[in-house]
Amino acid sequence: EVVETKLRKMNEAVEDRNEQMNDKEMKGFLQLYNRYMVGRSKKQQIEWDLIQQPSDNMLQRYDSLPKPQKSEEAALLSKLAVLKLNGGLGTSMGCKGPKNVIEVRGDTTFLDLIVQQIEHLNITYPGANVQLLLMNSFNTDAETAKIIQKYQDTHVTITTFQQSRYPRIIKESLEPMPVTHEGYAHQDWYPPGHGDFFEALYNSDLVESLLAQGKEYLFVSNVDNLGATVDLNILKNIVDREVEYCMELTDKTRADIKGGTIISYDGKVSLLEVAQVPPQYIEEFKSVSKFKVFNTNNIWVSLRAVKRIMQANEMKLDIIVNNKEVAGQKVIQLETAIGAAITYFNNACGVNVPRSRFLPVKATSDLLLIQSNMYNLKSGSLVMNPARQFGTTPVIKLGTEFKKVAQYLERFGSIPDVLELDHLTVSGDVSFGANTTLKGTVIVVANPGNKIMIPAGSVIENKVVVGSLHV
Ligand code: UTP
Repeated sequence: EVVETKLRKMNEAVEDRNEQMNDKEMKGFLQLYNRYMVGRSKKQQIEWDLIQQPSDNMLQRYDSLPKPQKSEEAALLSKLAVLKLNGGLGTSMGCKGPKNVIEVRGDTTFLDLIVQQIEHLNITYPGANVQLLLMNSFNTDAETAKIIQKYQDTHVTITTFQQSRYPRIIKESLEPMPVTHEGYAHQDWYPPGHGDFFEALYNSDLVESLLAQGKEYLFVSNVDNLGATVDLNILKNIVDREVEYCMELTDKTRADIKGGTIISYDGKVSLLEVAQVPPQYIEEFKSVSKFKVFNTNNIWVSLRAVKRIMQANEMKLDIIVNNKEVAGQKVIQLETAIGAAITYFNNACGVNVPRSRFLPVKATSDLLLIQSNMYNLKSGSLVMNPARQFGTTPVIKLGTEFKKVAQYLERFGSIPDVLELDHLTVSGDVSFGANTTLKGTVIVVANPGNKIMIPAGSVIENKVVVGSLHV
């Protein structure tokens, strides 16, 4: 309570009204903060024995879903709006501004592709009017407002809203940052994770206006998942079965140990995240034999259900404590994730989708594949090149010299031909000339002080190149 009084006083003292937390934000933050403070003393542990495999109803196979008739498609789409989680910045790939502006295919950005995909739907199904909603954060809102002007003449209505802006908390004193010094500073704040979507959407009044326009479902996904396209089979399934929340999960490989998985917990469908797993079960959680699928963060959700749950103030998502250091000070951010909401909805379920619906771009190694001839572009969607012999994509590891997009672009004269590539590892000061072809397993390692330049036009097949080049 002392903290609450201090924070409110501090907030009121801020002269610029736009800088103040609004009442809804203040309420949301204080609820989260109080839950955290109470929860700290009585840690709830998951009971491992209550975990069961999800039933066939809880986790459906994508290829078992009935396809809609051609005549149904437009009506189904008219109930849908697409929402992209657009709060994040491109900093991890060395880019300034919202992640959506990264050029992923030629000079086409994430957002360009998304708009192309939806425009294609709206042209194919006149009257469906699938809209695009962007949930921005205070970090991305102003820039995104400028960017979307270029889509004014497209067949896509774009609406943005801003997610909550909460104060970071000093780790030691557990006081929100703004109360500890004078005025508000940018670094005092953070966007509290994509679980904030429910609160932010509800606070924006968009739920009401979308429902009034006959929209019933939202398809939500990460802005950087290029595989997250509108899927009519999933849409038909949730409409027919009155599913209020549907999570897309895909088969786990050894590289995907991080993602949450769907379980039946105490008879109810639920998401199990690595952070909830007691230490003695971590290996079991990571293995692919028991927990076979993981969350892609592609989520389909009923607007009416969101309204009901938010009105009743029922949603209390698990809190993720994110430790950071800001200006030499240890702070925590209280965050929530959209996947955790699955337990709050009726008829909630998962659907086990093909890997092609999970094409995230988290690093330049992902970008290399997306930009390469591994994919063709079709109406804004990436489709695997039919000339690729296997359904899987190569494993690509690029060293730290390639971490930033600008560095990566500089080190490739052009994007190599990777159609027959299985595995690429590059480390050290390595550059590729234009029009190279990489096949099989290729490892290029420049030791410290060495520089390797792969000549333009080289074809490298099943080779390890170390120190200097012998093709
Ligand atoms: P994350 O930063 O959570 O990426 O952003 P991640 O490492 O892939 O984490 P998970 O496993 O999906 O949770 C995922 C998406 O959520 C948006 C980002 O812009 C990105 O599109 N996001 C994240 C928000 O919109 N707001 C937030 O507060 C956090």
